[in-house]
Amino acid sequence: MAEIALLHGPNLNLLGTREPTIYGADTLEVIERRLRASAPAHTLRTLQSNYEGALIDFIHEARGWAQGILINPGAFTHYSYALRDAIAAVELPTVEVHLSNIHAREAFRHTSVIAPVCVGQICGFGWRSYQLGLEALLAHIEDKNAATLVAQHKEKPA
Ligand code: DQA
Repeated sequence: MAEIALLHGPNLNLLGTREPTIYGADTLEVIERRLRASAPAHTLRTLQSNYEGALIDFIHEARGWAQGILINPGAFTHYSYALRDAIAAVELPTVEVHLSNIHAREAFRHTSVIAPVCVGQICGFGWRSYQLGLEALLAHIEDKNAATLVAQHKEKPA
């Protein structure tokens, strides 16, 4: 069982009514319910915030309890070095997700300053970006744990 920090950045509290042709008609609550249902063996602790500092504080705290981070940083994706540094600092495997395909939109959305400190990025699949991101993150954590066990076994004197 893994504990995952699930973060949503600014304006994502408006999902359901916010530009539904781009972001879909599902609310954040519905998306989180589906995510929990898709990974019943795991625990998701979540935060949506419109404030950079609140997201950063949550990431710092996650170092004490989480095995990984799933994050949709919203517009912070494109310019928040502070969020990027927080993710790099806690050294937790992180997957970045977006509902829309940021690479097919306005030029300013093509750059993610967060992606280089993440295991990977999934975008363009609507709410399923979250589901795919969670699946990828859990698989990554499982592989990492298995590799650690093998390394520990090798270290033991015969
Ligand atoms: C978003 C894409 C960002 O560019 C935008 O600022 C958002 C939502 C997405 O999920 O597609 O707020 O992260």
